[in-house]
Amino acid sequence: MSGTGAADAESAPAFLRNLWYRAAQADTIRRGRLYRRIFLGEPVLLGRTHDGHPFGLRDICPHRGVPLSAGRLLEENTVECSYHGWRFRPEGTCAAIPSLVDGQDIDPSRIRVRSYPVREQDGLIWIFMPAPGQEFTQPAFDPPKVLLEGNACPQFVECQRFRCAMDHAVVGLMDPAHGPFVHQAWYWRSRHSIHAKAKRFAPSLRGFTMLAHEPSSNSFAYRILGADVTTEIRFELPGVRFENISAGTKRIVGLTTCTPIDADATEVTQVFYWNSALLGLIKPFFRPFARAFLGQDRAMVELQREGLKFNPRLMLIPDADMPAMWYQRLKKAWADSTGGNAAFVNPVPETTLRWRS
Ligand code: FES
Ligand SMILES: [Fe+2]
Repeated sequence: MSGTGAADAESAPAFLRNLWYRAAQADTIRRGRLYRRIFLGEPVLLGRTHDGHPFGLRDICPHRGVPLSAGRLLEENTVECSYHGWRFRPEGTCAAIPSLVDGQDIDPSRIRVRSYPVREQDGLIWIFMPAPGQEFTQPAFDPPKVLLEGNACPQFVECQRFRCAMDHAVVGLMDPAHGPFVHQAWYWRSRHSIHAKAKRFAPSLRGFTMLAHEPSSNSFAYRILGADVTTEIRFELPGVRFENISAGTKRIVGLTTCTPIDADATEVTQVFYWNSALLGLIKPFFRPFARAFLGQDRAMVELQREGLKFNPRLMLIPDADMPAMWYQRLKKAWADSTGGNAAFVNPVPETTLRWRS
């Protein structure tokens, strides 16, 4: 881990496949309704059946290309295309072609639109984006799970669209050195509080973990939780970060997800969960804090665009940019594995990183 490295994305593709992405807040996807979204550059219909099951379909009618989301969900839970009324089941098979008359032997069930595995968990809808050629294989693992008892309930959500490629949003998320410059605020910290840090990291599921430690920031944000606060930060592909904060029996989970809309826009969402009704009291404080915090990150990656449009070569330096380097290596290893070139082997070593922030 010596010297500087180029930050170019190397050979990894823009979007990683065969992974779960956060698609929506569960309560925004209502029964009987259809929604058009773009994920990883693909048009996706998100819907929920009348009996409550979320589903995802490629939002292109296989007949003549009209977005299926412009149609409606019939009582029988099929999506009716608005152009010629072809009907599709949530798992993608065609259920009916209204124009057919007796003797025209087209079997609708042999026609299908791609369906995406969709899961509702912890108040979120997750969507699995398969690799090309593997569209009909089922995911081998579950979406990322919030480590609280049962199905965790979001306490509040802040969702912002960043005008940047996925990589810059993710790298910004895991960058330990920008805090005192980008996130200056009385309740957080200032650049005068910069000091040397050493943090232990270990590989973890499709990513890495900054092991549990007392937050070095003597910030108000942590102090209001009490004395015995520890925090553990876990990152996993494609761009999911859990901050697990413990204070006595109180648990707070901050979940940040990055979902690429296309090559130039990324939806970044912070969802907070906790297990204590008492923490509800600090909710009014938390909300503007989360909005301002995420907005500062958004403003910075959008400023960064002004430089990146000239296609400069970038640098990654030890140790502060090591998480960004790990991210690139993880991406590469994952892309190789989904391309069938190799089994996924986590390239992150167990180590201590040191930096000032
Ligand atoms: S385009 Fe959808 S039914 Fe014809
Ligand atoms: Fe940040």
